[in-house]
Amino acid sequence: MKVGVLGSGDVAKTLAGGFLKHGHSVKVGSRNPAKLADWASQTQGGTVGIFDEAAAFGELVVLAVKGKAAADALTLAGLKNLAGKTVIDACNPIEDAPPEKGVLRFFTDINLSLMETLQSQFPDAHFVKAYNSVGVPCMINPKFEGGRPTMFICGNDESAKKQLAAINEQFGWETADMGTVEAARAIEPLCMLWCIPGFKHNDWTHAFKMLTK
Ligand SMILES: NC(=O)c1ccc[n+]([C@@H]2O[C@H](COP(=O)([O-])OP(=O)(O)OC[C@H]3O[C@@H](n4cnc5c(N)ncnc54)[C@H](OP(=O)(O)O)[C@@H]3O)[C@@H](O)[C@H]2O)c1
Repeated sequence: MKVGVLGSGDVAKTLAGGFLKHGHSVKVGSRNPAKLADWASQTQGGTVGIFDEAAAFGELVVLAVKGKAAADALTLAGLKNLAGKTVIDACNPIEDAPPEKGVLRFFTDINLSLMETLQSQFPDAHFVKAYNSVGVPCMINPKFEGGRPTMFICGNDESAKKQLAAINEQFGWETADMGTVEAARAIEPLCMLWCIPGFKHNDWTHAFKMLTK
């Protein structure tokens, strides 16, 4: 599959590396692709471009940019390059303010998530939430004694969620589908919960697992 990754940060580079590892073709996008030159030179097969080029390249798009800039990055990516495509949204709506006693501050409301806002603004894209509440050391094929961790996902489009579940399987995650885009109200704050022990112990190598009978 051809994957366009929007973002030049650690999450974008890590997910791009995961797709390359599993045999997909990848173009990573930034407003300033020169930022990605080192990554591209150290990575076999990964190409870089501006947001618009990465989105046009991808049959599937990954959104891994600063939460506050997500809509701007998607606008730069171009409506026509997103229409009808699965957009894996790894973003968190983190406020530009320090955490309060280790608890991140969000700029969203508990009854309106970032992904709902993006889905309304870009109605022809099929947003699915994933990879927002795990750190880069454990994103791709993590090994835990307790077995495969759980990727909580949501989104309105069933075929996009099937596509994401297949990717999760490749990346070593089991999928728990929480339903439609509104469930992002619960999945985005998992990032807050995930960060609390990180700030407390300066250890970022944990992940969530859903236990069922
Ligand atoms: N860090 C983690 O462990 C982690 C884990 C899970 C999820 N997340 C979430 O994943 C996302 C990416 O995190 P990150 O730490 O890799 O990177 P980041 O520093 O949060 O974001 C960097 C990206 O945001 C883009 N950006 C910033 N301002 C912009 C603007 N005004 N217009 C367009 N694009 C803009 C940058 O674009 P340019 O390339 O053009 O500069 C860059 O690609 C965030 O939403 C974060 O909350 C992070």
